[in-house]
Amino acid sequence: MKNWYGILTGLLILIMTQAMTAQEHKAKVLVLFYSDNGGTYELAKEIAAGIESKRNGQAVIKQVKASSYPKLKNIPVATVEELPSYDGIAFGSPVYFGNISTGMSEFLSKTVGLWTNHSLEGMPATVFMSAGSGAGKELAIQSFWNSLAVHGMILVSNGIRGFEKTDKNTPQGNTVLGVMSLTSIKNSERPSESERYIARLQGENFAKVVSALKGTFSKKEIPVSEKVTDIASVLKQKQIVLPQVPKPAGNYRPFVRSGNLVFINQIALKEGKILNPGKLGTDLSEEQVKEATKVTMLNVLSVLNEATGGDLSRVKRCVQLTGIFNTPDTYTQHASLMNVASDLAVEVFGERGKHARATFGASSIPVNSSVEIQAVFEVE
Ligand SMILES: Cc1cc2nc3c(=O)[nH]c(=O)nc-3n(C[C@H](O)[C@H](O)[C@H](O)COP(=O)(O)O)c2cc1C
Repeated sequence: MKNWYGILTGLLILIMTQAMTAQEHKAKVLVLFYSDNGGTYELAKEIAAGIESKRNGQAVIKQVKASSYPKLKNIPVATVEELPSYDGIAFGSPVYFGNISTGMSEFLSKTVGLWTNHSLEGMPATVFMSAGSGAGKELAIQSFWNSLAVHGMILVSNGIRGFEKTDKNTPQGNTVLGVMSLTSIKNSERPSESERYIARLQGENFAKVVSALKGTFSKKEIPVSEKVTDIASVLKQKQIVLPQVPKPAGNYRPFVRSGNLVFINQIALKEGKILNPGKLGTDLSEEQVKEATKVTMLNVLSVLNEATGGDLSRVKRCVQLTGIFNTPDTYTQHASLMNVASDLAVEVFGERGKHARATFGASSIPVNSSVEIQAVFEVE
């Protein structure tokens, strides 16, 4: 009996080890897409199913930026830094004016560090798209290839794969460079059965190529100094919630961008009221001024978020922060009050958050705020 038990345990361990080794040997493919209305995501799922159909590939579906669209809001967001960790990438995007979408283009424009570091060279790539009528579809899919060719990726086309079995009665998005869904051609649900079929074949063929080329190129990471962090994920992780952008109280703007510099001035306005108003020492403790300083810096970040079109990852660095505090003449510890703002900048932007700094005491500050912060950031 004991012997049987030993043999069974041994067999179980062998099976588990083999399963784990098989998993390790599978090519890991990122299916990376941008989508407004979910059409590209539908194709992404078919591509992923094709990748996994012959058990030589493992697909990971991610999007290039967070979306509030119900179908997409739980799909994880990829970072630029993780791209070299895959064995191949299938890229998906809607067609915008015969080109790739702004969402995908924005993401690709953050991959300069990968490009100069040759990080994606030799990695297989394939592309898929979702169009409306299909106007400019070949131009669009070709433009997708152009960007990836500059990275030195090995582009895997479809040719006329699957053509024999497609429905010839209605237009299908079977371009030779990659599958496309024609969403405004409504006489069948889109992606149509034929488009889904081609997408699965594309995924299956892509996994074959990726698996054959696995390990033939070096997966070079970008140096830490060039890494661009996804600030939205940092804020989420650190549970930092940006407030609504405070409205200007006169004939000026919440920010001005001049060249690559953004200039912002804020006070401790929270939900329409000044938090902890007054003078340090007379009305307020240091702790209360620090609280007001944090609120002020959050307002600065919120305006900066607006200045970068909602993408704080485009901030190249915090250049300078100036803190002005309502203090008595004899007060000298302004630096410790301002540290709250400086620490928040570094918490959010890391090394890029380190800045030059000035602090002042003032006999009064507008609308009785205990603090005002002037900030200068460099953005992409
Ligand atoms: C700015 C813009 C430009 C577009 N240009 C084209 C185009 O040139 N050709 C086309 O067929 N569809 C075009 N479309 C339609 C989208 O490609 C189509 O709605 C697509 O299915 C969206 O994909 P999604 O469902 O993944 O968001 C355009 C849409 C937008 C918003």
